[in-house]
Amino acid sequence: MVLKLTNGKEIPIEMHKTRVVQKISLTPAEQRLQAIEQAGYNTFQLKTKDIFLDMLTDSGVNAMSQEQWAGWITTDDAYAGSMTFYEFAEAVKDVLGYQYVMNVHQGRAAEHLIAKLWAKPGGVVITNYHFTTTKVHIELTGKSICLELYADEALKTKSIHPFKGNMDIQKLRDAIEKYGTDKIGFIRMEATTNLLGGQPFSMENLRQVREVCNEYGLLLILDGSLISENAYLIWQREKGYENKSVAEITKEICALADLFYMSGRKNTSVRGGFIATNNKKLFDELVPWLPVYEGFYTYGGMSMREIGAMAVGLREMVDPEVAGCAIEQIKYFVNKLDQLGIPVVTPAGGLACHIDARKFLPHIPKEKYIAGALTAALYIASGVRSMERGTISMERAKDGSEVYADLELTRIAIPRRVYTISHIEYAIDRIVWLQKHRDLIKGLEFIEEPPVLRFFIGKLDALDNWGLKLCETFKEEFGPDL
Ligand code: F0G
Repeated sequence: MVLKLTNGKEIPIEMHKTRVVQKISLTPAEQRLQAIEQAGYNTFQLKTKDIFLDMLTDSGVNAMSQEQWAGWITTDDAYAGSMTFYEFAEAVKDVLGYQYVMNVHQGRAAEHLIAKLWAKPGGVVITNYHFTTTKVHIELTGKSICLELYADEALKTKSIHPFKGNMDIQKLRDAIEKYGTDKIGFIRMEATTNLLGGQPFSMENLRQVREVCNEYGLLLILDGSLISENAYLIWQREKGYENKSVAEITKEICALADLFYMSGRKNTSVRGGFIATNNKKLFDELVPWLPVYEGFYTYGGMSMREIGAMAVGLREMVDPEVAGCAIEQIKYFVNKLDQLGIPVVTPAGGLACHIDARKFLPHIPKEKYIAGALTAALYIASGVRSMERGTISMERAKDGSEVYADLELTRIAIPRRVYTISHIEYAIDRIVWLQKHRDLIKGLEFIEEPPVLRFFIGKLDALDNWGLKLCETFKEEFGPDL
């Protein structure tokens, strides 16, 4: 919820109280420098003891409600046919409107199975934008590549377009013409587009995609990992939806897809995932593969405790106070940085505050991993752990050459119900400080590069030892203790 103060300013207000806490600590800059050096300038390789605010992701780190914890504890353990699964299936039916559901151990497991079954040889999978694991799973089949048909506006980081996650319908029609329906595995819409800065699609756009799919007999698959956030943004931004509830909008979105999957680690709970549909034929094609890769379909690699919490979390996620709690904090974060002249992705989306690293560090050439450098620098200057979402997060081409990302973003994610506005104010302050000293930041180079999803475990080094210079400048201004 957003409340207006007597001075006219609006603040996002937490509609929950915190009754369990975890101590965190801020280690001094010198220790942070050591930690990031040991981590190979890759924030995935840091240990949480060295982190002040962990804004790497909103996956698996959100605070659960007391009702979710109750669901976690009161479960029915069984290899097959657990009543906890059937309670979960009931929630899927009530909230998303799907009759058939199966659990998988997390979102990428769903991507693996979907790509395995429906990617077509010599073909393409069409999407509004790729996600790292989605693209890898599609391409690892050796059958298809991923074709992204976003509108041109999507790559403008400073924008007022409310739906930069839309698919460009003309480009979709052109692609169908070019590839032919027998080469198109499926159309995938991601709610909200993670790598474009958590940007939503509109209902109107999804409906148009549906119409094209109907016209050509194409399968429409929805990645609903942030479905309730996309619904919340439709409620706030799309004409005709202002008087509908987030729950109604969520159901309306789901009704347009043939098949739905989501990571359960973001807005339903903290673990797992699932695939759901109303199409019995699709369900029957998928379900035999579950025991091969995940486990029996009533647990799919998850514990019953996790499924119990997810059953409750699914019902809670469409409460506007839950669907909007991260969004309103993100909006506060993004708008404030924007006013202070920091190049952030606007409008604020549904996942994180994203800094446009190309604009923040215009002196670093694209070969030197601009967003990777900014992400490491932010950690040195603040203890805030963010995530590189730029070229390091891309796969190399088959000939080994770099594929440069469309956007070089430092993603500062907002786990739900975990951090407060004072934490965000602190992050804002250090980002502003960093911008003043941005000339000190140089690029990065790989010293250890794994063959796939290198952003997770790759190690890099700072060119010209810039980390040390940044740390020393920080200590001169703030003293040795911060
Ligand atoms: N799809 C989207 C849109 C995602 O954001 C993610 C995960 C996945 C699929 C994969 O799901 O992690 O449960 O296997 N996003 C996390 C993130 C990792 O940090 O954005 P998963």
